[in-house]
Amino acid sequence: MRESGALVARVLDMLQLEIAPGMTTKRLDDLAEQFIRDHHAVPSFLNYVPKGEVGVTPYPATLCVSINEEVVHGVPSSKRVVREGDIVSVDCGVYKGGYHGDAARTFVLGEIAPEVQKLVDVTRECLDLGIAQAVAGNRLGEVSAAIEEHARSFGFSVIENMVGHGIGSELHEDPAVPNYGRRNSGVRLRSGMTIAIEPMIALGRSRRAVSKRGAWVAVTEDGKPSAHFEHTIAIREGAAEVLTLSQSGKD
Ligand code: CO
Repeated sequence: MRESGALVARVLDMLQLEIAPGMTTKRLDDLAEQFIRDHHAVPSFLNYVPKGEVGVTPYPATLCVSINEEVVHGVPSSKRVVREGDIVSVDCGVYKGGYHGDAARTFVLGEIAPEVQKLVDVTRECLDLGIAQAVAGNRLGEVSAAIEEHARSFGFSVIENMVGHGIGSELHEDPAVPNYGRRNSGVRLRSGMTIAIEPMIALGRSRRAVSKRGAWVAVTEDGKPSAHFEHTIAIREGAAEVLTLSQSGKD
């Protein structure tokens, strides 16, 4: 999982350098898929079929690229261009050596409104605060509550119907990792558990991300922007080990 996590981080580092106004989201996806295959790994999301859901088409791409009011699962397209002023959430998973890694970052393109920059910064902080609680002996509710409290203290809204997850030989394993909840609740965390923590936080009042029937992309109910950061971590005594840490910077 260290190997697959490190590769996910390298993909996002590469995309962070490449992304620029005028690019299509399909171009980002092609860059990511090539990079992953060049490193003898397989994109986790490509052809993914959510368990228990019927009538959903297998996910058709390597990345999820979700722009502005799109919360998650934006499908890359040769018709979709990223522009100055957009916030672009890029989510990537890779499968290598029998295990998955999964991480996401929201990139900011050029000048954006100060409140949208604040949303992006606070969502990143929510991830760090969640990770800080993800230590052996704590219960999962400490992670969820830390994320929720930080987001709410800025008046932002937590997207409640999308959650983080256990991760390992499957992309999505138990437990679900909500971005809201009560302290002193949920499963007890033990050293060696691996989970993906992924706050999705919105600027408006929307508490759900909604999809049109048959579509993958999920958007805020009020059309306000949403940000998303994700790390795959291993629970340890004292402090979590972040498996998808950027090889180049603070992310
Ligand atoms: Co995930």
